[in-house]
Amino acid sequence: FLTLLTGCNSLDYTEDHEQLSEEERIIIRFSHIVGENTPKGLAARKFAKIVKERSNGFVEVQVFPNGFLYKDGEEISALKKGDIQMIAPATSKMTNEVPEWQVMDLPFAFRDVEDVHTYLSGSIGRNLLAQFEPKGFYPLGVWDNGFKQITNESHPLIKTSDFKDLKFRVMPSPIIASQFEILGANVQSNSFNEVYQLLGNGRIDGQENTFSNIHSKNLQSLQSHLTVSNHGYLGYVVLMNNSFWNDLPKDIQILLHETMVEVSKWEIKIAEELNENNFQSLENCDCIAIHHLSVDQKKQWEDAFKPLYQQFENRFGSDYIKTLPKYEG
Ligand code: LMR
Repeated sequence: FLTLLTGCNSLDYTEDHEQLSEEERIIIRFSHIVGENTPKGLAARKFAKIVKERSNGFVEVQVFPNGFLYKDGEEISALKKGDIQMIAPATSKMTNEVPEWQVMDLPFAFRDVEDVHTYLSGSIGRNLLAQFEPKGFYPLGVWDNGFKQITNESHPLIKTSDFKDLKFRVMPSPIIASQFEILGANVQSNSFNEVYQLLGNGRIDGQENTFSNIHSKNLQSLQSHLTVSNHGYLGYVVLMNNSFWNDLPKDIQILLHETMVEVSKWEIKIAEELNENNFQSLENCDCIAIHHLSVDQKKQWEDAFKPLYQQFENRFGSDYIKTLPKYEG
């Protein structure tokens, strides 16, 4: 009863689907943990809007932001169980399911987001994405946030020795934990929505995140120093529950795929713009000291992180690393 009109971007319906009950339509509950004015928040809303328009209301993507429905750490198992149908976690958070995704967390693995997308659309990237399906996740797209920066309270983090004995909140990825431990720092893995409170009550000294995530959580009000390090990529894999996906009518799958391709292109631009704007706001707020690394200082960080590449290679082999664009180029 659904016909995909060739050469046209909308589905042809004879009924007004807005009048149908939720049981009669397709409802996709999309849960995420960040605010609405973030790259992921904006893209989720846009995806929902376009899907609704193009399916004349037959497919409704209901977006639940800010961890209102499921918290960070809960959304992945909720998706797996089918309690929700769609999530977009940071790739780092999927390393428990597919540990090879830790390659994305290696410090300074990517020079820019073009590098990331070149890598993920190549054979290794496609293989990484394919590893989600046997685990119960259908990968529909990859969205950027940007590159992570580091904030801290007590002193500027410029030399690698500046990290010693400090405690940082990290996302749950062993390579990210090692990245701090190799500098003599301690880590604890907490959900994103706890970071503000942990910094506020001094349970952690610092954290790493993108300008967008730092700014949207107002972390600058609790931290005195920010180092522009761009040391690690933070992006998202947009996932659907695999059996839910497989049960969808073919033309709905096509509609979702096409919309995702279009929204992802838009999202990548928005992510860059938003991070740039948020960086400008942090520079202008007079509320946090911003430190840039010199070429030599950055080299010191890169050298300190080199053993992490060996650590990764010992566990997963060299293919994931030697195909990183910076090694080919
Ligand atoms: C974090 O936990 O720091 C990020 O994954 C939050 C997000 O989803 O951008």
